[in-house]
Amino acid sequence: MQYGHFDDANREYVITTPHTPYPWINYLGTENFFGLISHTGGGYSFYKDARMRRLTRYRYNNVPTDAGGRCYYINDGGDIWSPSWSPAQTDLDFFEARHGLSYTTITGERGGIRAEMLFLVPLGTNAEIHRIRLTNTTEDQRSFDLFSLAEFNLWNAADDTTNYQRNLNLGEVEVVGSTIYHTTEYRERRNHYAVYGVNADIAGFDSDRESFFGLRGNWTRPEVVANGTSKGSIASGWAPIGSHHLSINLAPGEERDLVFVLGYIENEEDSKWESRGIVNKENATALLATYSTSEAVDRAMTELREYWDALLGQMQVTTADQRIDRLLNVWNPYQCMVTFNMSRSASYFETGLGRGMGFRDSSQDLLGFVHLIPERARERILDVAATQFPDGSAYHQYQPLTKRGNNEVGTGFNDDPLWLIEGTAAYVVETGDLSILDEDVPFDNDIDDSAPLLEHLRRSYQHVLDHRGPHGLPLIGRADWNDCLNLNAFSTTPGESFQTTEHKEGGTAESVFIAGLFVHSANLYAQLLDATGMASEAHEVRAQAAKMSHVVLEHGWDGEWFLRAYDAYGNAVGSSKNEEGQIFIESNGICSMAGIGAETGHTRQAADSVKSLLDTDHGIVLHQPAFTRFHVELGEISTYPPGYKENGSIFCHTNPWMMITEAMLGNGEQAFAYWSKIAPTFREDISDLHRTEPYVYAQTIAGRDAPRHGEAKNSWLTGTAAWNWVAITQYILGVRPEIEGLRIDPQLPRALEAIDVVRRCRGAQYRIHIDNSDTDAATVRVDGEPIEGSVIPYARAGAVVDVTVTT
Ligand code: BGC
Ligand code: NOJ
Repeated sequence: MQYGHFDDANREYVITTPHTPYPWINYLGTENFFGLISHTGGGYSFYKDARMRRLTRYRYNNVPTDAGGRCYYINDGGDIWSPSWSPAQTDLDFFEARHGLSYTTITGERGGIRAEMLFLVPLGTNAEIHRIRLTNTTEDQRSFDLFSLAEFNLWNAADDTTNYQRNLNLGEVEVVGSTIYHTTEYRERRNHYAVYGVNADIAGFDSDRESFFGLRGNWTRPEVVANGTSKGSIASGWAPIGSHHLSINLAPGEERDLVFVLGYIENEEDSKWESRGIVNKENATALLATYSTSEAVDRAMTELREYWDALLGQMQVTTADQRIDRLLNVWNPYQCMVTFNMSRSASYFETGLGRGMGFRDSSQDLLGFVHLIPERARERILDVAATQFPDGSAYHQYQPLTKRGNNEVGTGFNDDPLWLIEGTAAYVVETGDLSILDEDVPFDNDIDDSAPLLEHLRRSYQHVLDHRGPHGLPLIGRADWNDCLNLNAFSTTPGESFQTTEHKEGGTAESVFIAGLFVHSANLYAQLLDATGMASEAHEVRAQAAKMSHVVLEHGWDGEWFLRAYDAYGNAVGSSKNEEGQIFIESNGICSMAGIGAETGHTRQAADSVKSLLDTDHGIVLHQPAFTRFHVELGEISTYPPGYKENGSIFCHTNPWMMITEAMLGNGEQAFAYWSKIAPTFREDISDLHRTEPYVYAQTIAGRDAPRHGEAKNSWLTGTAAWNWVAITQYILGVRPEIEGLRIDPQLPRALEAIDVVRRCRGAQYRIHIDNSDTDAATVRVDGEPIEGSVIPYARAGAVVDVTVTT
């Protein structure tokens, strides 16, 4: 069952009912100012950092209710409704939400009044624009009242939601004309305030929550809305809000646009005040003036569309299957941009309170982003690297506002450092920009201790070599990619975090996954060394990678698949000898991708074992059998009921590792089959089971051991977006930037007979036609001439290269 459909021409998902299984959200903003917006207008906005600079309030544990957000109410002679259905929740004659690229429109109609609302953050602007187009669709003159409501957050969202004894005594506002200024804490150390204005005269306003709702009022029927008049309240302590009241008169057929602006303003320390106690509103006034007309909003929309046209133009694919095209041409890269911007901080499944930018996560997100905006990828790599410690280890997360490591989440995830190599290599092969390796980057943000980026990579690599265990495999530390495989935690205290609890003495547990990742990234690191003329070091690095491969085959092979780890007692994890957790996808995927045992057939065997033991109708589960009881020696993985999250769900992030493996083994058919099980556009028609948005990947889909097998959770912020992008575009379509040139090596399912790909890389454009009709040997022709092998040397910037491939 579906709750809407794709509008491919407009690159929108059209939701035709408020009653989706979950709030289905979108993101506004592209660079510094962001909003999360559900299809009924829920969500919030923030400047740069969801935790530290939150503008509007969110009500937690809010799925599916989705209370709060961008609230607009109409009181039409006592009939109270909201154009986005929420918050009034009155039935509508017509409802439609369209989530587009960095904007959303929501249209509601009732009783002959139509309200079409457009929400966007214009490029380069620290504000949300809400344009409301009101239309009288009847033959009669109509008069009604419109009320807005934004509930301000007192900046630090974590404090806002916990520290009431202080916060309920802090709130301050100023109101001038049609504009409400939220100025809490501006009197002291803050130099920023929020502004909420509208380009029309108002009949009244409120800025105090209790006055607006009334003592018995609620979100659906606030007292002020029900009474049809504002109270002119000025917040002082308690909860500051912004609410405008507009009296609207529309002639038959008349249309009227209102532009609301909800913005973030910063002032220099010495120009904070206009006069004593009166904030300097110059910047706010300029912002409001910029968006004082509907035409200005149209222009901002046009710019936004052009911005996305250019970005998506980096790669466009035409096949016979719309589900493929719309995902690759629009939604997958869009999700890659969102994960790049948010890491794992703010979604409807991540509160925006705790988790900032992940070292591991952001590094992997780059894999799907480097081709979109290489300059921003470059900056991100340097930011991430600056949170590395001198010994090569790293903070697990950092806050985007300060760019400093987040102590609360700690360090010691021994895979973290290697992902920096992966992200950097992806950037370098995409751009050819080796100069990034020379950039001077601090360790732990200490400017007195810095080194070129290449030295950071060296320490990442060395950190693994310096931390090996009894079998010569890398020590796992707190955990590896699987945050919940906590082999040194032995936590028995209820509520204690497995992620931060101290390691038990020694901590000798080893990870086959990190071994595989080491081999994979060491080979990339060696390529970077070669490219910078350090051939002898490259040789040494390759030798260490080869040695690690041997160790894996000797101590990390169970007979039919790769083991997962050794626990702190030296017992194998992920072995047929175990009662539960006999085979895991992660080590099989990463070791195969690293080419460990490719020539000896281990890889093929591992891939076959994964297929026969872990594949389901909804994707590949993490491991089998799922853990049915708590294993103190394994940690958080065994806390989830079987089939959820790290305990044997379909953790979609890992599935592309098997797609890549299958493609590397020449089995495009299987690679594609795996993708089509987890790809959101392929799951659209089971939206009632899948439940999260059909336009973005989810992190996890309940595995075969869970009662709701096939139900997705944690949509949007997941490495699934970047890794699927890599698997499909680089290994199945096979268009893969490498150091020497663009490799074209498609591994396609038979059903896809002909494909056209336009790929821009290093300033040149490659127009690639793939003919997948049954021929024996693959041939690649460049401008009509067959070439040796499948790597096309990079063409000069501006060149157009025609490539034909027959497979
Ligand atoms: C989740 C992991 C997540 C970790 C982060 C765990 O509870 O299962 O997926 O990475 O928390 O703190
Ligand atoms: C989500 C985390 O963000 C990611 O870093 C981790 O690899 C997976 N969970 C698996 O635990």
